[in-house]
Amino acid sequence: MIAISISILFLLSSCGNNTKNESEDKVTEEQVVTEQPITVGDNKDAKLSEILLVSGDAMKFDKKEIRVKSGQTVKLTLKHSGTMPKSAMGHNFVLLKNSISLTDFGTAAAQSKVPDYGIPAELLKDVIAHTKMIGGGETDVIEFPAPEKGTYEFLCSFPGHYGMMKGKFIVE
Ligand code: CU
Repeated sequence: MIAISISILFLLSSCGNNTKNESEDKVTEEQVVTEQPITVGDNKDAKLSEILLVSGDAMKFDKKEIRVKSGQTVKLTLKHSGTMPKSAMGHNFVLLKNSISLTDFGTAAAQSKVPDYGIPAELLKDVIAHTKMIGGGETDVIEFPAPEKGTYEFLCSFPGHYGMMKGKFIVE
């Protein structure tokens, strides 16, 4: 009876320890990570990293940071979950080469004369990948090879949006 009690106690205490360690680990992880949600592809080692980026009737992406692995193909889905038309609240995803200033690009793109505020032809050289401009209820999917390791910036180039709609695209 004593032996059983001891082993139960031991089990309980070791379970307790495990749980404690886990929660400590979680806390540490959360402290390191920024307060913004982070998207990692479902399988970090997969050849394909699938990213879902959602926007709506506000000037906001649901992610401030996207992480992929070098060598992966990135399949990015941009979804507009709102109802406003693209003429009023259009969104796109534009990934910039890392030598390009997001503010300069956003300012220049706002002068776009391309229909639906498409990216002006002269700015395409600054872009690694981009979706089309979409409105409420629409989705666009693009695939591109992850650029070399580094931190890049992405934005929505609809006039006036890049101040709010931007984030880091990190290739590890
Ligand atoms: Cu936008």
